[in-house]
Amino acid sequence: MSSQLAGLDASKLTITKTTTPKERLPNEQLVFGKTFTDHMLIIDWDAEKGWLTPQIKPYGPLVMDPSACVFHYAFELFEGLKAYKDAEGKVRMFRPDMNMARMNKSAARICLPTFDSEELLKMIGELLKLDNKFIPDERGYSLYIRPTMIGTDPGLGVHTPSKAQIFVICSPVGPYYKTGFKAVSLEATDYAVRAWPGGVGDKKLGANYAPCIKPQLEAAARGFQQNLWLFGPEKNITEVGTMNFFAVFKDAVTGKKELVTAPLDGTILEGITRDSILSLCRERLSKDEWTISERYCSIDEVKEAADKGLLVEAFGSGTAAVVSPVKSIGYHNQNIEVPLLPGEQFGPLTKQIADWIAELQYGIVESDWSRVIG
Ligand SMILES: Cc1ncc(COP(=O)(O)O)c(C=O)c1O
Repeated sequence: MSSQLAGLDASKLTITKTTTPKERLPNEQLVFGKTFTDHMLIIDWDAEKGWLTPQIKPYGPLVMDPSACVFHYAFELFEGLKAYKDAEGKVRMFRPDMNMARMNKSAARICLPTFDSEELLKMIGELLKLDNKFIPDERGYSLYIRPTMIGTDPGLGVHTPSKAQIFVICSPVGPYYKTGFKAVSLEATDYAVRAWPGGVGDKKLGANYAPCIKPQLEAAARGFQQNLWLFGPEKNITEVGTMNFFAVFKDAVTGKKELVTAPLDGTILEGITRDSILSLCRERLSKDEWTISERYCSIDEVKEAADKGLLVEAFGSGTAAVVSPVKSIGYHNQNIEVPLLPGEQFGPLTKQIADWIAELQYGIVESDWSRVIG
């Protein structure tokens, strides 16, 4: 990109406030991604000029040429992160720098423009200040932030976009499990794959998501709540629905436990919750009792461990639920039972991780993973 092109610049932000402010729904009525705040952030980009004047304006429809490349060739990527209100009413985004880095990687992969992460974060901060009343302050509640980038230039030829747009919308959300954890049943999917080596499974592109719904519907039709993605002749577990997957095994001889998740080989979405879990577990779990592994783990290994009583627990991880306990996995007409604590809907590590991360998100424990909006 030539140096004459304008970079993303938060100091140029213009703000047009809504004249028809909305009421925020009571916390108990919040449904994930159904209602939005009063304003949105929009920044256009042009290959000749670079990033144009950023604008915060009232939330509303986008107007676009029907031949815009986003509609035909899926020039689209997105992020998902949350802002939390702490006990003092301060607003905190959780590890937003990681989302910005991932967003830039996604953009680079589909020839959309990259941008200065810090500038976008400053502008998201301004949006949060303006829409502060929509950020719930009860524990378990938060504001889901959806930064998105699309290719906007018209024309049906398949080409590098010469126009693009970032927009950021926000939705107040409640706890994923309203009445505490609810462990889910999974169906291992071996007739379709989510991602493949050399593909784009590690990028947060909209095009990765639409094809994943059908296997989930098929799992649901057979009575399972989610599907578990496998890959290759070894049937390695990659992800669960739209979450990263973790399992805990116990060594039959030493009793030492191993926390296992798939390695970042390009087929796995580089989850920020996944990264947070690995860091926290490496830092806080006793090295005498635990091994933390990023390695392949097949569905057969999980089945064998369960049969021998060596499977301790399993869970998914992602921004929406943080951790989602698994109670069973259907595979080839067999049911792999995943242990839960007696009378509970979760295993011990799943609960521990949920508590650790919530303390950091709500600023109960201070850390540089919180970006406080000043
Ligand atoms: C396919 C997929 N895997 C994993 C995740 C978890 O990522 P994160 O922890 O960053 O939310 C997500 C959600 O963003 C996802 O869409």
